[in-house]
Amino acid sequence: MSNKKEKIVVAAIDFGTTYSGYAFSFKHDYETDPTKVSANHVWNSGSLLSLKQPTCVLCKPDGQFDSFGYDAEDRYIALAEENNHGKWYFFRRFKMVLHEKQAGIDGSLLTIALEPETASMYCQLLSSDKLSSMGKFDDKKYMVIDLGASGGAWGGTKVDEEFNQMIIKIIGAPTFKKFCDQHKAGHMELLREFEIKKRKVRTDKNEKITLTVPLALNDTYEKICNETIKDAIEQTPYKGKIVWIKDKIRLDAELFRNLFQNCISNITKHLADLLEKPGVKETSTLLMVGGFSECQLMQEAIRTSFPKAKVVIPKEAGLAVLNGAVIFGHTPQIITSRIAKYTYGINISPPFDPARYPQDKKVSVGGYDRCKDVFKKYIEVGESVKTHEGRTGKHVTIKSNQKEMLLKVYASPDKNPMFVTEPNCEMLGKVVVKLPDTAENMRVDVKMMFGETELMVEAEEETMKSKFVAYFDFL
Ligand SMILES: Nc1ncnc2c1ncn2[C@@H]1O[C@H](COP(=O)(O)OP(=O)(O)OP(=O)(O)O)[C@@H](O)[C@H]1O
Ligand SMILES: [Mg+2]
Repeated sequence: MSNKKEKIVVAAIDFGTTYSGYAFSFKHDYETDPTKVSANHVWNSGSLLSLKQPTCVLCKPDGQFDSFGYDAEDRYIALAEENNHGKWYFFRRFKMVLHEKQAGIDGSLLTIALEPETASMYCQLLSSDKLSSMGKFDDKKYMVIDLGASGGAWGGTKVDEEFNQMIIKIIGAPTFKKFCDQHKAGHMELLREFEIKKRKVRTDKNEKITLTVPLALNDTYEKICNETIKDAIEQTPYKGKIVWIKDKIRLDAELFRNLFQNCISNITKHLADLLEKPGVKETSTLLMVGGFSECQLMQEAIRTSFPKAKVVIPKEAGLAVLNGAVIFGHTPQIITSRIAKYTYGINISPPFDPARYPQDKKVSVGGYDRCKDVFKKYIEVGESVKTHEGRTGKHVTIKSNQKEMLLKVYASPDKNPMFVTEPNCEMLGKVVVKLPDTAENMRVDVKMMFGETELMVEAEEETMKSKFVAYFDFL
């Protein structure tokens, strides 16, 4: 926002479904190299998987916060191993919503940034040696593909699900459930091990993949089913492709790669559909960010599915959003204009014109016929609007002695909504303008504009010049 002063340090927090992280940079570092962003290295001192931490929280039996990320996982595993975890609360893979009050961050210092935008900013500033494409990334038009964990059939966790399904096909759902319930620590170790191997998958390697899994998985199966896992595999389609002895599972490379297949083809199909759409068709540059963009199989699939496209992938694709958010914090004015995603307006009640309005919208106020629920358009969908460049309008009270004026702000995907009650219209919120105590009809000047990442509505009452402002997130 414009009133946010130049900062000495900017920190960004990225809450993802599976992984979360934070990063920061000082003004002087930013000035020498804007892409020089520090992540917290204490956070990844343990099992070095990534600079982000798993999105999980451990709470004490009384509900108080205990730990976050790898710490939470480690502590929960330790508790489970001693069978002391029963009363503790462990949450993982949830999409967090950052509430500034709860986070203890002063609202005037907090800016919500939009993920694809920050990722783009970061990539635009990277030198070509840190990008996997020929030359610098300075294309005018490109598509940002944020491949994270969530997104149903398109998320990286879809691969984890396929792995689970494979285990279930071998040992059966009841055995797997029993193992998960009785061996919480073991289950988490299994997921971690898969995550490590998942990140190492390569298109061209044919050596077998070995996973070290909890012995309890093997023991639980043999106890329940009275046969060895080796015998179980003989009866599945995995015969000859998996060797599972005690705590080692060895998989054919091809079989391991197959776990990614559905997810990857869903993503490429979806992109192919998008690239057929008008307005998107001419896009020839694809910018891949998000953790799953680091997956070599995924990268290859994009390159082969879209051979004519220029595919740009930053070196640490999973951190692009986070690093870009730090850059955005230093210079929010990087975004100079935006294309309105919706038509934005405010409800008004103009004099009733029987030629224009249906009878059921007629109301009588102070002896005059008025039309209720009319959508007064401020910004039209598709319009390019410079940030902080306001669209203005005047609103007049319809009754004398009004104590306040209620401006309800609406958004609609239609170009010319007539009434705010149309099914496509959604109320974003309202601005309450307090009015001075007089019998006169009062005028209120309204300004609607885009900030860096929010819609701002400013209302000023004319006589007292008192201002009322509201912000609406684009998220
Ligand atoms: N090198 C890699 N190879 C394969 N998969 C990877 C790699 N690195 C990360 N992933 C996968 O990417 C996903 C995490 O990506 P990211 O951190 O961008 O998601 P997120 O921010 O948690 O999720 P979202 O943005 O959807 O809320 C996980 O499914 C993880 O297993
Ligand atoms: Mg993310």
